[in-house]
Amino acid sequence: MPDDKTLFDLRWNRSEADLLSSFRLLYGQTPEIETRLKALLLRHWKERPVELKALDLKRDLEPEWFLSEKMIGYVFYVDRFAGTFKGVAQHIPYLKSLGVTYVHFMPCLRPRPGNSDGGYSVMEYRAINPALGTTKDFENAATALRHEGMTVTVDLVLNHTAKEHEWAEKAKKGDRKYQDYYLMFDNPEEPAAYEKNLVEIFPNDAPGNFTFYPEFGKYVWTTFNEHQWDLNWANPEVFLEIVDIMLFLANKGVDCLRLDAVAFMWKRLGTNCQNLPEVHDILQALRAATRIAAPGVIHKAEAIVAPRDLVPYLGSGRHRGREANLAYHNNLMVQYWSSLATRDTRLMTHVLSTHFPSSFRNASWATYIRCHDDIGWAITDEDGAAIADLNAFEHRKFLADFYAGQFAGSFARGGIFQENPLTGDRRNSGSFASLAGLEAAQSEAEINAALDRILLGVSLMATFGGLPLLYMGDEIGLTNDYGFVNNLDHAHDNRWMHRPVMPWGKLTDVQQRILDGTRAIITRRKELPQLSAANPTLIVDSGNKAIFSFVREGDEGPLLAIFNFSELWENIPADFAREQGITAFEDALSGGKVAVEDGLLRLPPYCRMWLT
Ligand code: GLC
Ligand code: GLC
Repeated sequence: MPDDKTLFDLRWNRSEADLLSSFRLLYGQTPEIETRLKALLLRHWKERPVELKALDLKRDLEPEWFLSEKMIGYVFYVDRFAGTFKGVAQHIPYLKSLGVTYVHFMPCLRPRPGNSDGGYSVMEYRAINPALGTTKDFENAATALRHEGMTVTVDLVLNHTAKEHEWAEKAKKGDRKYQDYYLMFDNPEEPAAYEKNLVEIFPNDAPGNFTFYPEFGKYVWTTFNEHQWDLNWANPEVFLEIVDIMLFLANKGVDCLRLDAVAFMWKRLGTNCQNLPEVHDILQALRAATRIAAPGVIHKAEAIVAPRDLVPYLGSGRHRGREANLAYHNNLMVQYWSSLATRDTRLMTHVLSTHFPSSFRNASWATYIRCHDDIGWAITDEDGAAIADLNAFEHRKFLADFYAGQFAGSFARGGIFQENPLTGDRRNSGSFASLAGLEAAQSEAEINAALDRILLGVSLMATFGGLPLLYMGDEIGLTNDYGFVNNLDHAHDNRWMHRPVMPWGKLTDVQQRILDGTRAIITRRKELPQLSAANPTLIVDSGNKAIFSFVREGDEGPLLAIFNFSELWENIPADFAREQGITAFEDALSGGKVAVEDGLLRLPPYCRMWLT
């Protein structure tokens, strides 16, 4: 058995070039800092628990473990799901019954008191939120999940800290070292010069990107909320601090680090300070650091940006296979809701086939239909122009109205999130079920239609290619929780309408049907190796605009996934399926035969089919 140091050296050699090539582009030649970085990695590796070291070896041997068709994600706020970390253990049977293999605890590190942006304003990275339990409770929950075959994801907020973080407190007191951890300016001119090209993330709640503090006479860069201070990633000391935190969390049993708001990590005057090339070097260097000192751990990037900017987070060009292992496919979410409202998949087919590669190296999507954030209608004017009779500006406006329930005949109920009067930009809040029509449904037929839309979405994310993420409560169709207005810390932020509390009582008939449908999709997914995220996804156009379809190429032969986005019966030529290599018209999802009449496949309203 090679000893600890030998293993470290092997892994250092494997990733040294990935680490240092990016690190030096960012920070130049800094031998002293590089020595400290290597020592930091070695220290954490030595401290890594034996059980996790064994897992590292296992994952070294199976580097595609997270791409497996067996992977199913479930995302929750610990307090809303189980009260505390101790409570999580009691709900493991439920997670298992859903087929979950990947659990994401929403922000669980110690937040600032009061409004903390749902925990994304972190005051202390090495402490668990005391409301949820102790570090020991966290470790116990992670271990219990691991022993049941589940992995653990936590958020690492690395674009900003809470203004109450100890670094920020020192900076406020005038400590130059820590002032350099943030982006602080003495006069208003520089911020104003940057501001010319910046967008506002929360224009209603937190207008502008800088905050002036009279107490210490400085302007601080605050992209998100006033209490969230952007870190200065041009300072290598910040890089070292975050690596230290990252590996601390890894050694507590975290399998996947969700890197929050990465698009914003580098700033350059005259740009919108999003998705700059340096961000990709930071992410490559962070990834290499984990691969050396905690090799079983993967990274997931959260960059909710336009398609062109999104793809590089999974590694392109010299970063291929070296950046994030997972990234949120926000565009799949956007296109699902867009097609559902219009019963027209042309934009979806165009965008998903034009801007996205069919596969990645050692990386894939986190697929989802709804999450804890708003839906931003990331549909570009150019993409709109590619579709006859579609104007992107008008379409974005329509979608915001439709999903706020403000468009005549809309089945959706939701809210408008952050209306920007300057750009006309409006995003939406709302739970999966409410946006899909369950809240507004009056008749049995409307309820059935809402259920079909939900299961259409679940089967889409389970098939598309990636790691599907279910957000707590969506599996039982929880509708909007309007009670958030009664909580002083939440009332200003209607994203809380789709962050409900789990009602552990007896399910209603409708909830049970959604749960059964979701479970059936998950069970079938796990039986079909074609659905591994390692296999490519090829979008194919059947010529019927209500239908979205793609092929998953596996060693077992192709799987043709077909989704009907309309509430009407639709047809596609059987020859279209044959051209994709489908010979028997059997649906691997339902187990049934698909009707073929006069050379046409007959597709029921909102159908989802997996032909093999
Ligand atoms: C991420 C989170 C979001 C939060 C923001 C700022 O986008 O998902 O909830 O508001 O980062 O930390
Ligand atoms: C995210 C995204 C933005 C999102 C917000 C939180 O990082 O960039 O689109 O809406 O933060 O909701």
